[in-house]
Amino acid sequence: MRIDIISVVPGLLDSPFSHSILKRARERGLLEVNVVNLRDHTTYARAQVDDYPFGGGAGMVLMIEPLVNALESLQRERVYDEIIYLTPDGETLNQPMANALSLKTNLLLICGHYKGIDQRFRDHFVTREVSIGDYVLSGGELAAAVMVDAIGRLIPGVLNDESSALSDSFQDNLLAPPVYTRPEEFRGWRVPEVLLSGNHKKIDDWRHEQSVARTKDRRPDLLDD
Ligand code: ADE
Repeated sequence: MRIDIISVVPGLLDSPFSHSILKRARERGLLEVNVVNLRDHTTYARAQVDDYPFGGGAGMVLMIEPLVNALESLQRERVYDEIIYLTPDGETLNQPMANALSLKTNLLLICGHYKGIDQRFRDHFVTREVSIGDYVLSGGELAAAVMVDAIGRLIPGVLNDESSALSDSFQDNLLAPPVYTRPEEFRGWRVPEVLLSGNHKKIDDWRHEQSVARTKDRRPDLLDD
């Protein structure tokens, strides 16, 4: 899979894809991430990419022209399955969306800044608008990093143990059960005996019960779906 990201602050995305699982995914050739600086695609003086909003009001708006220039230069190389604008008024990112996007070949993520981007770009080029939660970030870059992480780890072959993504929270609308590792006892706190029993059927049943109990307690809304 290839993910291109258009940003006015590309430096914000220098490191998130260079460690741990995403680093391995890139090294294995399973994921390619490419960050494009919007300022390289403007014809305005002093690399201007934003301007005051028509009608007045606070903040600046990213202009349509540099966005279209950047998009069209990327589209000369590949066809995108989705052109996604990161925005707090988009549909909220969730695990089913990450699962579906992990099966795509080419994604383009557009990061807004200041007061957002010219609505005409959203109307005529963006195919999907995504929010990572009900709070406002200062730009779309950190949201893009969250999306790349959530999607990238699901690409087949990225996680060593294929089953480990299947047992994540949300994969079956349940939160993940508690996990323990060595030592068996610390300050008198023991690991639940069932996990030491070697009985895999019992362990699976216990984990499922724990998942259901945790979901009822913390996220009963997930059980309504
Ligand atoms: N840009 C600013 N806030 C955002 C959010 N919550 N999700 C996605 N993009 C954003």
